[in-house]
Amino acid sequence: MKPVGSSVFPFFLALIFSFLWASSAHTHQNFLQCLALRSEDSSSISEVIYTPSNSSYSSVLQFSLQNPRFSTPATPKPLVIVTPSRVSHIQAAINCSQTHGLQIRVRSGGHDYEGLSYVSDVPFVIIDLINLRSISVDAENGTAWVQAGATIGEVYYRIAEKSRTLGFPAGLCTTVGVGGHFSGGGYGTLMRKYGLSADNIIDAQLIDVKGRILDRETMGEDLFWAIRGGGGASFGIILAWKIKLVDVPSTVTVFTVNRNLEQNATKLVHRWQYVAAKLHEDLFIRVGLTSVNSSQEGKRTIQASFNSLYLGGIDKLLPMIQESFPELGLVREDCIEKSWIESTLYFAGFPSDESLNVLLNRTPLIRPPFKAKSDYVQEPLPEHGFEGIWKKFSQKEAEAAIMILTPYGGRMSEISESATPFPHRAGNIYKIQQLVYWEEEKTAAPERHIRWIRRLYRYLAPYVSKSPRAAYVNYRDLDIGSNGKGNTSYRRASIWGSKYFKSNFNRLVQVKTIVDPANFFKNEQSIPPFSSRWKKRGD
Ligand SMILES: Cc1cc2nc3c(=O)[nH]c(=O)nc-3n(C[C@H](O)[C@H](O)[C@H](O)COP(=O)(O)OP(=O)(O)OC[C@H]3O[C@@H](n4cnc5c(N)ncnc54)[C@H](O)[C@@H]3O)c2cc1C
Ligand SMILES: *[C@@H]1O[C@H](CO)[C@@H](O)[C@H](O)[C@H]1NC(C)=O
Ligand SMILES: *[C@@H]1O[C@H](CO)[C@@H](O)[C@H](O)[C@H]1NC(C)=O
Ligand SMILES: *[C@@H]1O[C@H](CO)[C@@H](O)[C@H](O)[C@H]1NC(C)=O
Ligand SMILES: *[C@@H]1O[C@H](CO)[C@@H](O)[C@H](O)[C@H]1NC(C)=O
Ligand SMILES: *[C@@H]1O[C@H](CO)[C@@H](O)[C@H](O)[C@H]1NC(C)=O
Ligand SMILES: *[C@@H]1O[C@H](CO)[C@@H](O)[C@H](O)[C@H]1NC(C)=O
Repeated sequence: MKPVGSSVFPFFLALIFSFLWASSAHTHQNFLQCLALRSEDSSSISEVIYTPSNSSYSSVLQFSLQNPRFSTPATPKPLVIVTPSRVSHIQAAINCSQTHGLQIRVRSGGHDYEGLSYVSDVPFVIIDLINLRSISVDAENGTAWVQAGATIGEVYYRIAEKSRTLGFPAGLCTTVGVGGHFSGGGYGTLMRKYGLSADNIIDAQLIDVKGRILDRETMGEDLFWAIRGGGGASFGIILAWKIKLVDVPSTVTVFTVNRNLEQNATKLVHRWQYVAAKLHEDLFIRVGLTSVNSSQEGKRTIQASFNSLYLGGIDKLLPMIQESFPELGLVREDCIEKSWIESTLYFAGFPSDESLNVLLNRTPLIRPPFKAKSDYVQEPLPEHGFEGIWKKFSQKEAEAAIMILTPYGGRMSEISESATPFPHRAGNIYKIQQLVYWEEEKTAAPERHIRWIRRLYRYLAPYVSKSPRAAYVNYRDLDIGSNGKGNTSYRRASIWGSKYFKSNFNRLVQVKTIVDPANFFKNEQSIPPFSSRWKKRGD
């Protein structure tokens, strides 16, 4: 086809856009009528539908929105938010979105780093699973069914209600939702002993593009494999997970030891790299690196914060550290014994006298806008590599930046790269997460913080994994291999695809091609179905 002449083009576009606007108001009316028609009980569905004209639309939209970077007046808003209270509401929403050409964004905990669960640049509907969050724990069998709208704090709380010696390996921040978290992997302080959340899922319920409710048996092992690390959003809507609980001792020990540059932080972090992945699997020591005020008036320094969980008491921990990491200078006074459930509050950052009920609170402690990236490290960085990082952290844009080093090894190294879509296993000594925050009132300037983190990312290139330079899908980063406009051409998708999933990407594409060939469940970084066009274009 001949390209449209350049003088006619703007007019042509304007025409299309005005048509789109007119038709989207129309579409959304039709969509609402369709929902009422398709749902078994139209009065119940009207109670869970919010359009911009409902007074609580904004508060429902805001409630589970974790990154205010995607909550500006310019951020596209959903035409409709549905908060299903029954499965039939989800089935109706899937059916009607297809019928009326609307995209669906599914939200569980709303912690997506790039806001993919609540923002889209095409007309869209949010299905927010906040009302589907029941948890039933079978302590005798050591299993639980957890609905996708639950947070991990709620999961921890319900397990602890039944047993002090059962736990579950999942994240540190307790307001994270299990819908996104488990389907992208999910790691926390128990990972060196038990692996990821996804490694401990034994069954699931998913609603597919045709509205069918599938479980492990009816979905088959390929799809069941794909949703345990491949991200949920590409394959259907996950309704619930069945998880295998793990044993935790009745007493665990936690500590946080802070060292700044004047206290040998550089040497300690350098040394930590040789130790952390080889420690006993009961011992997890991560490091947080930040820029802080120094004790010298007006000066800044870097603080390395060694933050640890040990699955046992202080008396066993101290000799273990003395043996493997004496340089840390850990003393008894640094250590606190707790139950495992109390340790989840500690790592989430709650004060020590906080009641366990706070685990049921879905409002995060803090919620500043942020941008983040991730990397994997296979060879220790030299000391001067860290010194270059300190320089980056001394820049003004990095006042509220943090780099978190999470140790691998232990159980993580025993699981094969293809057991789940999450491929970062043996050979990785730790993962880096780079994060930069800024104050919401100063949103006029987020770009300079984002440029800062991109500079840090470029600086790290020689020190981290290569070909591919790997990344963690739950730390979603639209900078990698995407133009941010829903570009799912295979060539681009295979860039982020190989970073997140390595060679598992191909199997994810195969599964997607079978379960959602028309690519209804789609976002900026969803798995694309195979298209014969790719071959022809040589993509
Ligand atoms: C403050 C904070 C702390 C974090 N801490 C950790 C941590 O300790 N460990 C860790 O591993 N990760 C951590 N994460 C990352 C977190 O695991 C991911 O952001 C995860 O995807 C969030 O899941 P969600 O349900 O809260 O997010 P959502 O934004 O609701 O969803 C994330 C993605 O999954 C899709 N999705 C959600 N629910 C479903 C469903 N039911 N069916 C299909 N698709 C679905 C969404 O459409 C979206 O694409 C943290 C994130 C934040 C913001
Ligand atoms: C939102 O408004 C519509 C139309 O007025 C109404 O039918 C629906 O019940 C309202 N939703 C809620 C949750 O109140
Ligand atoms: C929606 O449901 C109707 C009625 O069951 C059915 O005829 C139609 O095929 C469905 N459409 C889609 C896209 O699933
Ligand atoms: C444990 O699981 C088995 C098999 O699913 C079930 O038959 C049994 O009732 C369960 N036990 C308890 C105490 O619920
Ligand atoms: C820093 O390390 C040196 C030797 O490597 C040691 O002598 C000194 O005591 C350490 N300083 C602190 C504050 O730990
Ligand atoms: C750090 O120092 C600056 C000025 O030197 C001050 O404004 C700021 O409040 C200090 N921050 C903290 C956390 O103490
Ligand atoms: C996707 O990206 C490629 C490469 O940058 C570009 O040629 C193509 O036009 C893009 N497609 C869409 C739909 O944005």
